[in-house]
Amino acid sequence: MKHYLSLKDIDSLPQLVAEATSLKQRPDAHKALGKNKTIGLLFFNNSLRTRLSTQKAATNLGMDVMVMNFGNEGWALEYEDGTVMDQGTSEHIKEAAQVVSQYCDIVAIRAFASLTDKKKDEAELVLNGFKKYASIPVINMESSVGHPLQALADAITLAEHPTSKPKVVLSWAPHPKALPHAVANSFVEMMQRQDANFVITHPEGYELNTEITKGTRIEHDQSKALENADFVYVKNWSGYTDYGKILSQDPEWIMTKEKLGKAKFMHCLPVRRNVVVEDAVLDSDQSLVIEQANNRTYAAQIVIKKILENL
Ligand code: CP
Repeated sequence: MKHYLSLKDIDSLPQLVAEATSLKQRPDAHKALGKNKTIGLLFFNNSLRTRLSTQKAATNLGMDVMVMNFGNEGWALEYEDGTVMDQGTSEHIKEAAQVVSQYCDIVAIRAFASLTDKKKDEAELVLNGFKKYASIPVINMESSVGHPLQALADAITLAEHPTSKPKVVLSWAPHPKALPHAVANSFVEMMQRQDANFVITHPEGYELNTEITKGTRIEHDQSKALENADFVYVKNWSGYTDYGKILSQDPEWIMTKEKLGKAKFMHCLPVRRNVVVEDAVLDSDQSLVIEQANNRTYAAQIVIKKILENL
């Protein structure tokens, strides 16, 4: 693997999931692979799971890890070519990416959508800027458009609960803040590669990018979508057509124990209790959220391992 920018960088999802599951049995088995190699983790946004699990994954592979909260501590970066930099930005991505490439063997980047400018968000200026100007592999730790490490962890979690052609539902939930589409997009792309009955449910107006959801069933009646579900993945996202807007906070869309039925509950975390999902769900043995978070380590580890093997 050269880079891990999206799920498109995976040749065979079932094979990668199987290898990640095997790594989980012996996380230190490849400690020599990353000896004298350094990964730089650059965070333009907050994190708990991504930061710690990626650091743990790299450490399991014997790598040195440098972490930088770029959003607060780095120079404000310029991405446009030919700009007269007499305003707020202090350093161009061209220099920054080349400099980081001298210190690190792999760079991983978290840079969320602004949710104010769809065109700029979809251009993935930070991720693609590093891909263009860095001379080292780049890993996406959640960008404007996707969160492929989360989706890989979710695929590992699903595989650990084998069900013949499961019914999996991605169910929108209310949230007081406008959230990006990245987790939902990558979950959809991952599910499109599974042998599953996959349904997305959300209020009208919350359609995701149809380029991503095309071919996938969308059901606006949540109760109909949830009928006989085996797994329910709950996630808020803001408007895509009406970009970045909160169009509804309808509490009827919260996930309850009653709605969940016998299904397993999934969420990427962090989650707002009793807004997105009831306590009774999260505190039940139907919740897989802690397993999903644990699998973030092995998703990151298999990706870093594949990239190290290709250096
Ligand atoms: N799921 C996830 O990416 O968690 P963090 O935002 O805490 O990294």
